[in-house]
Amino acid sequence: MKVGQAQEPAIHVRGLEKSYKTLRVLRGVDFDVARGGVFALLGSNGAGKTTAVKILSTLLKADAGTASVNGFDVATQPADVRESISLTGQFAAVDEILTGRENLVLVARLRHLRHPGKIADELLDRFSLTDAGARKVATYSGGMRRRLDIAMSLIGNPPVIFLDEPTTGLDPRARIEVWQAVRELADQGTTVLLTTQYLDEAEHLADRIAILHEGRIIANGTLPELKRLLPPAKVEYVEKQPTLEDVFLAIIGDDGAAGNAGTDD
Ligand SMILES: Nc1ncnc2c1ncn2[C@@H]1O[C@H](COP(=O)(O)OP(=O)(O)O)[C@@H](O)[C@H]1O
Ligand SMILES: [Mg+2]
Repeated sequence: MKVGQAQEPAIHVRGLEKSYKTLRVLRGVDFDVARGGVFALLGSNGAGKTTAVKILSTLLKADAGTASVNGFDVATQPADVRESISLTGQFAAVDEILTGRENLVLVARLRHLRHPGKIADELLDRFSLTDAGARKVATYSGGMRRRLDIAMSLIGNPPVIFLDEPTTGLDPRARIEVWQAVRELADQGTTVLLTTQYLDEAEHLADRIAILHEGRIIANGTLPELKRLLPPAKVEYVEKQPTLEDVFLAIIGDDGAAGNAGTDD
């Protein structure tokens, strides 16, 4: 596997722009993702999260700006980028009529890896799917499917993983199962960029959060850093820590209190 310079960020994005006809979706997006850990790209429905992920995974060309993944430029070294990543979309790519294990073996074979059965069994174990491994995926719950989907994306050990809205449409229990799986991935050194429209998902899962709003990153930091963007709390009888939701609404300007705190232009 090709690995870029160790000191480089896993993902580097500068001035990224993308329009669909007259719709300007990305209007100069800048961010870096350090190696390891979970980075959340947080934004409302239609903010441009999937567009950004598609550009980073070489499925779509940007109109302007630069982006590199694992040290490789997405525009000029797309094959190297593809070798460095995996992409899991909002809709699971698993095959329903195969068993969980067969799905994993199939992907390992497609990637020409040796010992596909062993790879499948290790991943089933890692994602708590060993007992379900011999069952058809059609019988799996939403959380099990999504876990299997993530397991499939890990075959070949890509250093960078994109998860586009990994928990959209899942029930609360399945979400927590997916969160655990993502956390374990990151703890083992994989760089995870996930997109989400859920504030609590970013709050619980991400080491760093970038908020994509109206085509730009309007805030980027750890949760404590984002909380510091709010004006200091007034002294009251009950002290309330701001939630990420408070910060989000304040910086996108929906409550009128903090206006555009954190805007970089
Ligand atoms: N292929 C396309 N053609 C035209 N408009 C698109 C296309 N893909 C996405 N859009 C529009 O671009 C905006 C951003 O979409 P998307 O990147 O999917 O946002 P998100 O993933 O944050 O929900 C939305 O308004 C969407 O309708
Ligand atoms: Mg999307």
